[in-house]
Amino acid sequence: MISKLVPHLPEQLVWIISKKYIAGKDLDDAIHVVKELNNQQIEATIDVLGESINEREQATKYCEQYLFTIEQAANHHLKTSFSLKPSMFGLLWDFNFCVKTVKTIIELAAKHQYFVRIDMEDSACTDSELRLFEILYKDYSAHVGIVIQSYLKRSVYDIRWLSSISSVDNPVNIRLCKGIYIEPENIAFKRESEVHKNFLDCLNLILQKKMFPAIATHHHELIRESKKLLSRFGKRREEYEFQMLYGVTPRRREELVNEGHRMRIYVPYGEQWFEYSSRRLQENPKMVSAIVEGIFIRK
Ligand code: FDA
Repeated sequence: MISKLVPHLPEQLVWIISKKYIAGKDLDDAIHVVKELNNQQIEATIDVLGESINEREQATKYCEQYLFTIEQAANHHLKTSFSLKPSMFGLLWDFNFCVKTVKTIIELAAKHQYFVRIDMEDSACTDSELRLFEILYKDYSAHVGIVIQSYLKRSVYDIRWLSSISSVDNPVNIRLCKGIYIEPENIAFKRESEVHKNFLDCLNLILQKKMFPAIATHHHELIRESKKLLSRFGKRREEYEFQMLYGVTPRRREELVNEGHRMRIYVPYGEQWFEYSSRRLQENPKMVSAIVEGIFIRK
């Protein structure tokens, strides 16, 4: 019933459901949310909502939006990084254009001592996103990071490869998450127990290879086991961080912060929130998951 109703729901109503997970339409909304998080000793990573596109003009507009966001974040002294999806910059139809455009963003971020995370999209993008990261890491090793998804069977090999390009001064910074896209069984683990085992194997390897882990999960068992691994490797506070999505499990996030762990929150903002939220709500009437999926799946 909800799926049928969604196209007719007023924007205001969808917003009431979405606003717990999306900072708002405007940059000012994101700035407000990040300031509140910073006041709680939590850092952020700002994500500008946008579509996977096939026009240079649109990619250039998204690039300008990121540049403006970075400038404003610097003006407001925000403690934040930025997350971006390469498909918004033409990853799959003009790789060189994508490299050039994302480089412009990272250059400005680096100028302000900020960091940019290349989000990982579906498996059609994995190879190109790793290649994009490799190119950017050569020039901006302190200012760019990548994501590994533990549901992919290839991930352990990808981590090994990342360790082969990782530098001692600025080790590769890897956000480790489970992965949110629907992938075929021949390339992805399907059972939760397998995804969890691989998550911890991946974390173990990242730590062994002396790279920087950004542990992105809300799952209590994964958090508990990750903490055990961190202490087994004798990691100090500044040598790792936890990450969560804005609005998801705030109590778990508070517990980690109170225990003294570093925490970074993924804060999406942008005009397209209504489109994503309502499209996902149509596909998946489990409202909350639908909105969170919409932050990542933009096709
Ligand atoms: P799981 O889904 O099992 O959730 C554990 C618990 O958290 C649930 O029992 C519930 O209590 C709570 N919870 C989780 N999701 C919730 C929700 N939507 N609403 C309410 N409660 C919820 N994926 C990807 O493919 N590429 C990427 O680049 C990223 N980037 C990324 C950044 C950050 C900071 C995070 C936290 C996550 C991502 N993800 C992602 C998404 C990730 O792959 C994964 O799909 C989600 O984090 C959910 O997995 P969990 O490990 O949190 O466990």
